[in-house]
Parts: sequence; C-alpha cells; structure tokens
Amino acid sequence: MRIGIIGAGAMAAALGRGWAAAGHEVRIGARSADAARALAAEINGHAATVGAAIAFADAVLLAVPVSALTELLGAHGDDLAGKVVIDCTNAFLPDESAPDGVPAFVLSENAVAERIATAAPKAHVVKAFNLLAAEVWAGTDRVFDGVRLAVPICGDDATSVQKVARLAEDLALQPFTAGGLHRARYLEATSVFTVGLWFGGLDARAMLPPLSAAFAVADA
Ligand SMILES: NC(=O)c1ccc[n+]([C@@H]2O[C@H](COP(=O)([O-])OP(=O)(O)OC[C@H]3O[C@@H](n4cnc5c(N)ncnc54)[C@H](OP(=O)(O)O)[C@@H]3O)[C@@H](O)[C@H]2O)c1
Repeated sequence: MRIGIIGAGAMAAALGRGWAAAGHEVRIGARSADAARALAAEINGHAATVGAAIAFADAVLLAVPVSALTELLGAHGDDLAGKVVIDCTNAFLPDESAPDGVPAFVLSENAVAERIATAAPKAHVVKAFNLLAAEVWAGTDRVFDGVRLAVPICGDDATSVQKVARLAEDLALQPFTAGGLHRARYLEATSVFTVGLWFGGLDARAMLPPLSAAFAVADA
C-alpha cells in the first residue's frame, strides 16, 4: 500500500518503520523538510512535503499533535478525499483536579476522530493505534501472557477498516474491529484513562478478566 505519514516524530517513526519493513511504500510529509528527510532515510521511506505525501498515498497517517489538526485539515482536508485517514491522535491534558500524588490526565477535546471526519468529509477516517506508546508499536514484543497485542479499530467504511486491520497485522498485531467512527471517542477516553493508571504504577491490564470469565455464569 502507498502510505503517507504526516509528522516525523515518535509515532511516525514507530509505525512508518514497521510498515516500510513490511513492504509498503512510505512517504514522510512534515513541515520540516530536514526532519522528513532524516526520518525517511532512517526507516527506508521517502521524504515529501505534506501535500505530496497525501497526494501519493492510499492511506494517510496523521501523526501530529491534536493542536496541529485545525491548521493541517484547513490546508489539506480536501486533499484527503477518498483516502483512508488513520487517526492515532490523543488529546491529553494533566488533570489539575486529581488528588495529590495521583497522576492523571483528562481529554482536552472529545471526539477528535469525528472532528477530523467533519473537516475532511470525503475521507475515510479510521481511529487506531492511539492506545499505546510509540515505543510499544516500535518494539517487537507482541504476545503477553499468551495473548497477542490487539489494536482496536473504529471507522465507518468497512473497506478502510479492513485496510487498517491489515496494516495492524503487518506489525504482527491483532486487529479488533470495534465499530463505527462514533465509537472512536471511547478509544480516546480509554487511552487517557489507562495512561493515567500506568503513570500511577497500576497495571491497567489487571482490570480485565479474559473473555472466558468476562460474563457471569448462571448457577446450575
Ligand atoms: N508518542 C506516543 O507514545 C503516542 C502514542 C499514541 C498516540 N500518540 C499521538 O500521536 C500523535 C503524534 O505523537 P508523537 O509522539 O509522534 O509526536 P511528536 O514526536 O511530538 O511528533 C509530532 C510531529 O508533528 C509535527 N507537528 C507539530 N505541530 C505541527 C503542525 N502545526 N503542523 C504540522 N506538523 C506539526 C512535528 O513537527 P515539528 O518537529 O516541526 O514540531 C512532529 O513531526 C499525537 O497526536 C499523539 O497524541 C502518541
């Protein structure tokens, strides 16, 4: 697949490297040509302007801060028409009202993925890869306690969701098709909640039993 990545930071590097290694054609489009060139060289991709990376791509990863989206989509929203747009963004703010000693975050904005879809109405926006740190996506550990790491994916266009699912599989991850784009806000909330737990030293994974024990079984 032809993948355009907007941004040249941690997420661009983590996902772009894996996709390039899996045989995809990756173009890095960043506002700094030097940064785009440096990352492209590092991951075996090609550098481009933001506009050229979008024009080239079948799928575009938005790997920029949420604060950059208004400007980016204002300039390029129409260029995203017909493309799969992968939104991995998180809108975190420190939770100023958390009790002392409890590290926590809140969302600075709800439903970022839906905002992207409104600003680029002809794009096929898919939320994915926002739950975990770039270091995890960049790493090679994929199976923990016998369970393959999963990527929940929300989007309205089934074909686009399937394409992103294959991109997850290309990183040796397990895609979870998780419903329409209106549910992406829950992924965004899940991320802000679990990251707070992790920062506090609490293993978020321990909150959830395996599927086999997730529902009460009626007494015989
Ligand atoms: N890092 C993680 O672990 C992680 C995990 C999950 C989700 N995310 C989300 O993924 C997104 C990217 O995170 P990141 O960690 O990769 O960020 P990062 O390392 O800070 O890189 C951000 C990239 O966006 C570019 N950028 C910033 N403002 C811009 C603007 N106004 N217009 C165009 N480009 C702009 C930066 O360019 P300059 O260098 O020129 O500023 C940089 O290339 C964020 O929304 C973040 O919440 C991150």
